[in-house]
Amino acid sequence: MDILVVGGGGREHAICRSLSQSKQAGKIYCAPGNAGIANVAECVDIGVFDFDALTAFALQKGIGLAVIGPDDPLAGGIVDAFEAKKIPVFGPRANAAEIEGSKAFMKDLLKKYEIPTAAYETFDDYEKALAYLRLQKAPIVVKTDGLAAGKGVTVAQTLEEAEKALHDAMVGGSFGSAGSKVVIEEFMAGEEMSILAFVDGETVRAMPAAQDHKPIFDGDQGPNTGGMGTYSPLPHIDPAIIERAIEEIVKPTAKAMVSEGRHFTGILFAGLMIEADGTPRTVEFNARFGDPETQVVLPRLQSDLLEIFLAAVNGTLDQVEIEWSDEAAVCVVLASEGYPAAYPKGKVITGIEAAEQNGGLVFHAGTARSEAGELVTAGGRVLGVVGQGAGIAEARDAAYAATEYIRFEGAYKRSDIAAKALK
Ligand code: AMP
Ligand code: GLY
Repeated sequence: MDILVVGGGGREHAICRSLSQSKQAGKIYCAPGNAGIANVAECVDIGVFDFDALTAFALQKGIGLAVIGPDDPLAGGIVDAFEAKKIPVFGPRANAAEIEGSKAFMKDLLKKYEIPTAAYETFDDYEKALAYLRLQKAPIVVKTDGLAAGKGVTVAQTLEEAEKALHDAMVGGSFGSAGSKVVIEEFMAGEEMSILAFVDGETVRAMPAAQDHKPIFDGDQGPNTGGMGTYSPLPHIDPAIIERAIEEIVKPTAKAMVSEGRHFTGILFAGLMIEADGTPRTVEFNARFGDPETQVVLPRLQSDLLEIFLAAVNGTLDQVEIEWSDEAAVCVVLASEGYPAAYPKGKVITGIEAAEQNGGLVFHAGTARSEAGELVTAGGRVLGVVGQGAGIAEARDAAYAATEYIRFEGAYKRSDIAAKALK
């Protein structure tokens, strides 16, 4: 079966790699892909929002399954577009992807179905939002309603900082229309974890938990990024807490979506906060694989990813075999200097082969080929370097050792990925 993967980051590289190991997989195409994805799939130069060209390509090639990676085309109805052309597609329709596309929708859903999350208020009027904010205590969280590349959230330590975030979003237009509506939310203290699950309606098959590192600097300092590193499993978190999160948050949410007439098929990704007493509460829901969570979770999958996707699309997700390796995986992101603010592109990258020969698994996030054919940087997050091993310490050492082989001007990485698991 020939497959079309839509997207072009580290997540899609990990998806394409796992699909390429499937017994049933024929040719794999990736639109638009990147320089690393080109090693496991044929990259097609079509943008993720060009639904007409994507569906025409899929029909022309007789694609048996399309798999959608990123959030924005999902929110924009890409799955509906494929379904309209009768092309099998793995991902949620627009009305289900709204769980990620609108934080106000997600919060209202959780409130209605009494699923644990932080207290909040939603505003589309700046003066009202400001008046409300001035009555609150810091720390407090200000979130744009719409998608903002993972950067629309400010965890403010002071009310002044929160007021600035509110002003930037609602008056300054820093996030365009995504910021015309905001959610102001109670701050939750604790440890974060991500649970991704294959979902079809009320059938939820959770993957092993992972943890991301969103802030740019060591010790979780500085502005949030798309994610600077991940690891899986989480040996320092009681499995009963993970189980509780699946039973009390992920499954009830999938069921709530069905009750609302928004049957969810695809990857439901819960961002969770585990409070000091072990209670998991919801930070956010995403309607897709996490990036870079996927880079540590999928290498641990021992079953056939294509079979799982097809089972979800065909209504047999409850029956398919899904086995995971006990081995740990740690992903260290190499980013461009300046990210998550402005950064240069076009820096020559060397050493990936050496990193791979020395135990690293390298996923390309933002890479391209220059006119001269050299591998160059083309994004803020450039590479995700994964190490594997019997436990987190071994996997982390393998990941960091592999990064030492890779060079590009201004390369930046956090030095404390997975440290929380080893305390
Ligand atoms: P989100 O995009 O909603 O996942 O938010 C990005 C990051 O902001 C999360 O991963 C958390 O680290 C942090 N965050 C979001 N909401 C809260 C909250 N209510 N309390 C504490 N931290 C939060
Ligand atoms: N790594 C967080 C995300 O994919 O949203």
